[in-house]
Amino acid sequence: MRIYREKDYTALSRRAANLISAEIIRKPDSVLGLATGGTPVGTYSQLIEWNQKGDFSFAEVKTVNLDEYQGLLPEHPQSYRCFMQEKFFDHIDIKKENTFVPNGEAEDMEAECARYDELVRSLGYADLQLLGLGRNGHIGFNEPSDFFHKETHLVDLTESTIEANARFFGEGESVPRRAITMGVGCIMAARRIVMVVSGANKAEAVRDALLGAITPRCPASILQLHNDVVLVGDEEALAYV
Ligand code: GLP
Repeated sequence: MRIYREKDYTALSRRAANLISAEIIRKPDSVLGLATGGTPVGTYSQLIEWNQKGDFSFAEVKTVNLDEYQGLLPEHPQSYRCFMQEKFFDHIDIKKENTFVPNGEAEDMEAECARYDELVRSLGYADLQLLGLGRNGHIGFNEPSDFFHKETHLVDLTESTIEANARFFGEGESVPRRAITMGVGCIMAARRIVMVVSGANKAEAVRDALLGAITPRCPASILQLHNDVVLVGDEEALAYV
């Protein structure tokens, strides 16, 4: 695993954007695995800036997102589809039909999970998968569990995740308790994984993921078995590694 220790959030966002743009320049029709959460927002802003300057193009890029809340319409402001449009896709030259997010509104969730796995497989898996990290070690919405979930699946979010994500929702608005997430199978099938971490409240999760036992109790620990992981963090998040 390669670690980039950056001085602050701006620097780590720039580094992650650099790795992603290098991938697109190397392979203009790259498949990018994308993540939501607060941490990748700076990375997306930097990519938007460089794309608008004309440094590289997303015209042939395809994207697959990790997860989506169950029960939120794509137009709901807190849906991950909406998040991706607002924070990234609406500002770059990507074709909307080349961007994929699980359908949290599907009537038959089991069929939707199977469809999403098949979609990611048919795209040849991600050339580069961008990941954030939950405070409890989750990746995508793969929450701590007794075993690793290989396939896309519906998950009951833990109280700590619901609480952490409540900041994105308005007062009185309830945070969904279930989500659909890519499993660790698709994530680990990505050729390169870039994880972004920022802030002291991620330091323990980073330590457990990198230096702890490989266990589904800390889902990110499975990344120790991947041969091309790049961790990009600020000093606070990397305090124990
Ligand atoms: C959500 C997302 C994850 C993300 C995590 C951390 O739970 N499903 O993909 O990594 O939040 O988010 P943040 O970067 O805001 O700490």
